Amino acid sequence: MAEPIVDRLVALIDEHGPIPVSQYLEHALYGPDGFYMAGGRAGRGGDFLTAPEVGPLFGAVVAGAVDTWWRELGSPSEFTVVEGGAGPGTLARAVVAADPEVLSSGALRWFMVERADAQRAAHPTHAQLVSVGPADAPSSVAAGVVFANELLDNLAFDIVERARAGWREVRIGVESGRLVERVGPEVALPEWPEGSPTASATPVGTRLPVQRQARAWVADARARLTRGRVVVFDYGGTTSELVSRDGGWLRTHRSHDGGNGWLAEPGSCDITTDVDVDQLQLDRRADRHDRQSGWLRRHGIEDLVEEGRATWNRSAGIGDLAALRARSRIREADALLDPDGMGGFHVLEWVVDPDHG
Ligand SMILES: C[S@@+](CC[C@H](N)C(=O)[O-])C[C@H]1O[C@@H](n2cnc3c(N)ncnc32)[C@H](O)[C@@H]1O
Repeated sequence: MAEPIVDRLVALIDEHGPIPVSQYLEHALYGPDGFYMAGGRAGRGGDFLTAPEVGPLFGAVVAGAVDTWWRELGSPSEFTVVEGGAGPGTLARAVVAADPEVLSSGALRWFMVERADAQRAAHPTHAQLVSVGPADAPSSVAAGVVFANELLDNLAFDIVERARAGWREVRIGVESGRLVERVGPEVALPEWPEGSPTASATPVGTRLPVQRQARAWVADARARLTRGRVVVFDYGGTTSELVSRDGGWLRTHRSHDGGNGWLAEPGSCDITTDVDVDQLQLDRRADRHDRQSGWLRRHGIEDLVEEGRATWNRSAGIGDLAALRARSRIREADALLDPDGMGGFHVLEWVVDPDHG
């Protein structure tokens, strides 16, 4: 039997000393028997629910948005969507079912980029869908979109803690054979904008995630595009909001509950952070920043729900599949638009246009 992750980490730390949180997370989430490698996933039968897993409505709205973006670029004959962290491919499946014009015209190629083999194995097959690991994602896209739903919260991050002077890095050490937090050496933070809480009198003990990988992912996504946009959806907040959450930005998910804490059984649960939307924009400010409810409304969710309501009113008595789908649409919209839930998520868009800087 494979050695449990915790034993491997204890041996590593005994040999080299406390490790950064990002290194711990790489092992706990993406190591050989890390959470995602061992089959952890989104979905009703999985560990947590995401917008595509609520039902096909989210994908239907995204399909409409992709049509809009394609037309804005003059309906090119090739239009590529690169979906980072595609999970089991549920969003792509729903986009195909919605049959946007960019798909039926033959222009669309949609890459489902997923790090975990177990999830890639579940990807739908379709002539215009391509399932790849991160190393095989297209390195350049002439016209298209790089998209991610709830990926950035899942990329390994570090943690810093406010000390009397400066900020210190939280590392993972070992005590009596168990993994424990250790406040390590003073560290330099990324350059937050002036007036941010990291520059002023943040209370001693305040913790924040430092999201270098998420920031690098956005920069890399922009660099791959010649023309188009990077669009990311995630839960999160500004740096000030994360400070006020008093460490509550660190989340664990397992079978729809919180698991036993983030250090107790590495590999047994997902570990994520609320995404700091200020950090994400340190390299370049997003061209649009919406809440998910506003974004979905801007891209026509209400028309789709009205369509569903009309179908339901017409055919509720028959109770056929179309009627049930229509009713489900109304329920899905409630979940997707809930301002205290997914409706409050952040959507950031960076436009890449070689004609305008
Ligand atoms: C929270 S899940 C979201 C899945 C899906 N987007 C959804 O909304 O249901 C995040 C997914 O990103 C994958 N992932 C993490 N890092 C990745 C990377 N660098 N490239 C591609 N996929 C990655 C994980 O394996 C996991 O399946």
